Amino acid sequence: MTASHLLVLATGGTIAGRAGSATARSYLPGQIDIAELLARVAPLVPGCTLRGRQLAAIGSEDITTALWRLLWEGCTAAMDDPLVDGVIITHGTDTAEETAMLLDLTLPTTKPVVLVGAMRPSDAVGSDGLRNFVNAVQVAGDAAAAGRGVLLVMGDKVLAARDARKARTSSLDAFRGYPRDGVALVTPHSLDWFGAPWAVDRPARYGFPERFPRVPVLYAHAQMDAAAVTALARDAAGVVLAGVGEGNAPQDVRRCLAGLARAGVVVVRSSRVDEGAVERDERDEADGFVAARTLGPAKARIVLQVLLASGVRDPAGVQRAFDAC
Ligand code: SIN
Repeated sequence: MTASHLLVLATGGTIAGRAGSATARSYLPGQIDIAELLARVAPLVPGCTLRGRQLAAIGSEDITTALWRLLWEGCTAAMDDPLVDGVIITHGTDTAEETAMLLDLTLPTTKPVVLVGAMRPSDAVGSDGLRNFVNAVQVAGDAAAAGRGVLLVMGDKVLAARDARKARTSSLDAFRGYPRDGVALVTPHSLDWFGAPWAVDRPARYGFPERFPRVPVLYAHAQMDAAAVTALARDAAGVVLAGVGEGNAPQDVRRCLAGLARAGVVVVRSSRVDEGAVERDERDEADGFVAARTLGPAKARIVLQVLLASGVRDPAGVQRAFDAC
């Protein structure tokens, strides 16, 4: 393990969770503060200096715009701090992919930024938190982790922000990547990258939003009617359709969405299916829709919010941005 100076921004989650019993069914996230967590990790990463900052102690379902801003500010300051080699963010796994995507779009790739979480609380039998944390230190302390955007370390796998998603509710191998299922393998004693960095010295692609426009996700299903669209899309600047199959929806719903697009609401088609692409076709051009390609609905929503906040709102421009993600 290379000697490195890492900043750890703590937000809570299961990695800081406690159940009170090794076999309990339920537990509370965000119970262990960063000082205690670092005291446990430090003996396992000799030579590394870890400096912690507790930003929140929440379950990540409660992530807020204000906390996202604190994380972005903390990472931005670390990029300019010669005493920091990389940043680790401890985060609940439920919305880790959204935070990772947001930071990936709004930070430069100069230094490693690594999100880490756990599926089992710290006092559970077989808890994965400490191992994941040590793995995250391996990754964030490796200069070769820069130039790959924001990364997520879970269960010996290193995932890129644009690929990572939570695919299982409770097992240790909860995270998968699509199209790339991992860009490296990591253990407490090894780190193997699958290829060279793809975004060396890339500046931040977008500014951090001053405010996040309202962008609801519309979940398509059999027997869906257009009333759901009207209700959900009220006051929205954009809508992400989590469509069936390749981003499809009943004809009434599609007509209603086309009406919204004509009124200036940006409509992005993605899929509720776990893996695969939604490509832009001739009907999208006619209806003024955008295709999310390989991004799932949760991440497509973040991308659209960042684009809208940056003033990108014509469907062709939004599509170009999704193509480049
Ligand atoms: C959370 O997202 O904060 C709870 C679940 C987890 O961390 O795995």
